[in-house]
Amino acid sequence: MSARRKKGFVIAIDGPAGVGKSTIGTNVAKELGYRFINTGEMYRALTWKALEEGVDVTDGAALTKLAERLDWDFRANEDGVIIRTYIDGAPVTTQIREERVGMNSSTVAGVPGVRKKLRALQRGLGEQGGIVMEGRDITTVVFPDADFKVYLDASIDERARRRTKQLRNAGKPADLEKIRESIVKRDMQDLQRRINPLRQAEDAVVIDSTDLTMLEVSQKILDLVAERERGRK
Ligand code: DC
Repeated sequence: MSARRKKGFVIAIDGPAGVGKSTIGTNVAKELGYRFINTGEMYRALTWKALEEGVDVTDGAALTKLAERLDWDFRANEDGVIIRTYIDGAPVTTQIREERVGMNSSTVAGVPGVRKKLRALQRGLGEQGGIVMEGRDITTVVFPDADFKVYLDASIDERARRRTKQLRNAGKPADLEKIRESIVKRDMQDLQRRINPLRQAEDAVVIDSTDLTMLEVSQKILDLVAERERGRK
């Protein structure tokens, strides 16, 4: 287990869009003094670059070539917790949240050569441990041997409510029904993808957060880690 990983455990979190993986993952990483990475950012970064360079997002060979050609870098933010994606020396944090990027990212994420390249980068980031990594295939494909595997779930209605609230709090317009529709669509895309679709790993702990706060879910994961550490002493 983590004895072979210098910096601590690998905590892998998967789940559908809008379930709170990043908020919860960041909380857990902060508490443990670990780093956190949202792997969706990498798929979004590649999508953004492809759109910028006029690469056809349905051309798998061209996307694979682009993924391999780019200079990928990952740097922690000021508090040393969240790892952000940089491509060709520049951060892409703001651009990758554009609507056009989100819309095209699931097509890009369906390309086997792209997944292979990003998977290698993700494994490199986690190989020493001390990391919380979230995405769609982290517990099943990227780190099938993770020390902790968590599958987060919540009802579609609750995820739509949370996303609407988050946008409104940020001063942005948000229509609950439209958001709900886009969540349903993204679930379908993630679950029905031919390569590495979202699924529950058999040995994952499933946490349904519909009636829990983000802090309560974070605490559940921290309890699992503390339990394991007590068992090792
Ligand atoms: O989590 P997100 O919505 O920012 O992810 C962006 C896209 O990347 C989304 O279409 C799902 C995909 N993705 C993936 O296929 N595998 C991952 N490990 C993470 C994200």
